[in-house]
Amino acid sequence: MQESSSPRPAHSPIKELPRYFADERGRRIFLDGLFGETAADYDFVEKLLGFGSGPWYRREALRRAGLKPGMRVLDVATGTGLVAREAIALGGRVLGLDPSAGMLSEAQRLSFPLVRALGEKLPFADASFDFVSMGFALRHVADLDALFEEIRRVLVPGGTACVLEITHPRSALAAVPLRIFMSRIVPVVARLAGRGDAGRRLMRFYWDTIEACVAPVAVLDSLERAGLGARRAVILGIFSEYVATR
Ligand SMILES: C[S@@+](CC[C@H](N)C(=O)[O-])C[C@H]1O[C@@H](n2cnc3c(N)ncnc32)[C@H](O)[C@@H]1O
Repeated sequence: MQESSSPRPAHSPIKELPRYFADERGRRIFLDGLFGETAADYDFVEKLLGFGSGPWYRREALRRAGLKPGMRVLDVATGTGLVAREAIALGGRVLGLDPSAGMLSEAQRLSFPLVRALGEKLPFADASFDFVSMGFALRHVADLDALFEEIRRVLVPGGTACVLEITHPRSALAAVPLRIFMSRIVPVVARLAGRGDAGRRLMRFYWDTIEACVAPVAVLDSLERAGLGARRAVILGIFSEYVATR
């Protein structure tokens, strides 16, 4: 990408979430707190959310995107390592990156290299990876353009980016059961299972960010601006898979 000396507007994936934070600094503090405090319960809550289908879905999505054995893979927003684990199972040589110390300490169980950093500022040389994955974290970055420019920069020419995200259902009718499931059922089951308040806080924030997130076309536009020709596939009406090639 061409370096530009004039500042350009940030393309935030979230319109506004005043109930959680007022500005960028507040957002980072909030996210560090939320993901730090819920890291130990994240895998449990995620299992409830996907009825245990999470590993299978992540692995198949990576396979569909073209992850092959021996590829150097960067998993951005690795969290507890749920995407990374599947990339490793497919034979990838995986490095995980996340800004949350709490999440990274959970990911250490998987014994793969980890780096603490933001997706918008990747601490790697140009063309270091064959494949970049990012699972269910698009809604948390400050600037989509900065994220995708960085992903493009660290990919080799011909390399692939695979970004997975939950997208708000197009029909209001379909949104209602999803909202009830996420905001009522998952938190209650998590609480009954002795997971305290983690389920409620994570799911409430999840739902609010899904609702506030820009439309898929804005994500595709941003990928395009970064020089990553992308396509989007939709699974079950809510799982968006953005697959882009440098
Ligand atoms: C919902 S978890 C997703 C974890 C994992 N990828 C998965 O598939 O379950 C979201 C993760 O995004 C991370 N995150 C938040 N802001 C980020 C940023 N700007 N760059 C990279 N990761 C970020 C959080 O720390 C958290 O671990």
